[in-house]
Amino acid sequence: MKYYIITGTGKGIGKALAEALLQENNATVIGISRHQTISLPRYFHLNIDLSQTQELINKLPEIFPEFKDAEEMVLVNNAGVLGEIGYVGEKQPQDFDYIFSVNVTAPAILMNGFLQQYAALNVPKIILNISSGAGKYPLDGWAGYCASKAALDLFSQTVQEEQTLRKTSVKVFSIAPGIVDTEMQQQIRSAKQTQFSMLDKFQNYKSSGSLATPETVGKKLKKLLQNVPEDLKVVSRIDEL
Ligand SMILES: NC(=O)c1ccc[n+]([C@@H]2O[C@H](COP(=O)([O-])OP(=O)(O)OC[C@H]3O[C@@H](n4cnc5c(N)ncnc54)[C@H](OP(=O)(O)O)[C@@H]3O)[C@@H](O)[C@H]2O)c1
Repeated sequence: MKYYIITGTGKGIGKALAEALLQENNATVIGISRHQTISLPRYFHLNIDLSQTQELINKLPEIFPEFKDAEEMVLVNNAGVLGEIGYVGEKQPQDFDYIFSVNVTAPAILMNGFLQQYAALNVPKIILNISSGAGKYPLDGWAGYCASKAALDLFSQTVQEEQTLRKTSVKVFSIAPGIVDTEMQQQIRSAKQTQFSMLDKFQNYKSSGSLATPETVGKKLKKLLQNVPEDLKVVSRIDEL
């Protein structure tokens, strides 16, 4: 059995990826989010709010149980939040804690737990982190989000470096999924122009039909997990797959 531990399976890209993977009879998905919206055979849900760091730490034994029949182990850190769109100096202070807890601290804790728990398990292992183009350049109104995704990219590169030095065959990726028609994009389109100067551009993506569907992206990520390209860099974009 191939075991996929995926965060953010409540909606959007994470839900589409989980559903795509579950079409295979040898796939089991352990999904983590605040809402359970999938009820399929071989899907197990853990209701966890990833912004609550201590709650996440307490649940680690449940998230990473022993799988005696594992032939492959995969961790997908997909859950992510944009936070409140607005300029630094004009925001609620709690928002930074929320963004970094969900987008950086939770993936870091889960990567650590995954590597620790399954260290002795001699099967292929993949860690796939869902990053963003916004981690590569500044976007006004999104400072916390941009910085959190940049942190996820460098964290992923460092973990891959460590695993290479430890001579494990663990593969780590931080993939930007492109612009995808999910609730996150709805939130972006409902921002105020004064808080986000690129509002028109993002509204046009929707009206011109330029957004990818979560199902298309889910299928591409499934293909990546099933057949990892040898030359794929740790930090990549979905259109490079
Ligand atoms: N959509 C895009 O254009 C785009 C572009 C670049 C990168 N991304 C990245 O892609 C990933 C998925 O985004 P999406 O577009 O699918 O967003 P989405 O539709 O808003 O979905 C976010 C997912 O994260 C989960 N989540 C949010 N807060 C959580 C929390 N506190 N605890 C546990 N789970 C939480 C949600 O489930 P619950 O609500 O049930 O908790 C949901 O499944 C994110 O990392 C995002 O940064 C998206």
